[in-house]
Amino acid sequence: MSVRSAEPRTVGDIAPALLEDWLRERYFSASIDISSSGVQDYTLGDLRRRLGISTADLDAVAFRDSPSLGCEPLREAVAARTGRPAGEVMVTHGSSEALFLALAALIRPGDEIVVLRPVYQSLSSIAEVLGARLRTWTLHPADDFRPDLDRLRAVLTERTRAVLVNFPHNPTGVTLTPGQYAEFLEILRGHPGHLVWDAAFSDLTYDQPPLPDPGLGLERVISVGTLSKAYGLPGLRVGWCLAPAALLPAMTKIRDYLTISTSPLAEMLATAVLRQPESVLGPRLRQARENREALLAWARENTGRVSLPRPAGGVSAFPAFSGVDDVTGLCHRLEERGVLVVPGACFGHPDRMRIGFGGFPQSLRTGLDVLTGLLKRPPTPFEV
Ligand SMILES: Cc1ncc(COP(=O)(O)O)c(C=O)c1O
Repeated sequence: MSVRSAEPRTVGDIAPALLEDWLRERYFSASIDISSSGVQDYTLGDLRRRLGISTADLDAVAFRDSPSLGCEPLREAVAARTGRPAGEVMVTHGSSEALFLALAALIRPGDEIVVLRPVYQSLSSIAEVLGARLRTWTLHPADDFRPDLDRLRAVLTERTRAVLVNFPHNPTGVTLTPGQYAEFLEILRGHPGHLVWDAAFSDLTYDQPPLPDPGLGLERVISVGTLSKAYGLPGLRVGWCLAPAALLPAMTKIRDYLTISTSPLAEMLATAVLRQPESVLGPRLRQARENREALLAWARENTGRVSLPRPAGGVSAFPAFSGVDDVTGLCHRLEERGVLVVPGACFGHPDRMRIGFGGFPQSLRTGLDVLTGLLKRPPTPFEV
């Protein structure tokens, strides 16, 4: 547990996003990408064939401004998918915008906020630059990062303004079991603060069904979702926020200076996707399942060299390697061989590496083979 208090600052003082900085150039030059937290991307042609969208449908889109909260058909499609009322939906540019707007509308300097550690950085750095005092709910490597609700109880106080969580979790792939989810809701039911529930990976689960939206059973819940991860559409830049209707005007006020609204073309495609979600999700979930088996088999074959907490959801895993205290050198040597991964330092764990297993099976196989080769061979002094 820790409490960090932040000096008042401006938004421009936000900490650099370490993951984005690492990927910025490398992502476009790597030949074997096993860095991503999403599944294999779809093309527009794939979507059109799967969803029956004709060129006439595309031609009919008028490039007018969309409503501030998103077009009604898409808000209704999000509502149907999540169970929350359409009046609580704001369509956003990915869940990144949803997180920014919701946190900016919610947090005041000095507020006490609980965040996970390791953490997807938006969830902590936005709160921090807004002047929040961060208390951490730590997921421990010794527990294979499995959430321990007693640790949450220990950091929650009457002054906690919001609890920010992300399950299934990036980068570890851990999630709450159904029993823990019920207990988690019980802990928050008696608490006056808000819950910010980042459900970017909610559709990607392996050992249990997806967790329902906590806003169905609790008040003061802000959930975010996205088409970027399980749906294979990160470049569409469509996400959403589900928030108590009273918070939406405050979010809209900020949005008016930022993005104003989303594109009607993106909204049209997103509506079609959410009306027939299984035809987009199904193939990618099957591939992610098979890739996960391949990853787990690789970890078993490399017992003694690789320690891999079993991802229960999402498409990222967070292994450590025996004798390697900082994987950054290893990531650079992979990069020289065309393989892109993410150093754990981007998540505050330099001894770990994020491996994305949602993409092409052949990329995963080749990337893991190259990694195995490097792990078997001690580095020369020049390579460290
Ligand atoms: C946990 C989590 N939340 C939110 C996002 C933002 O994704 P997007 O803005 O593409 O929806 C990401 C992206 O990696 C993520 O991992």
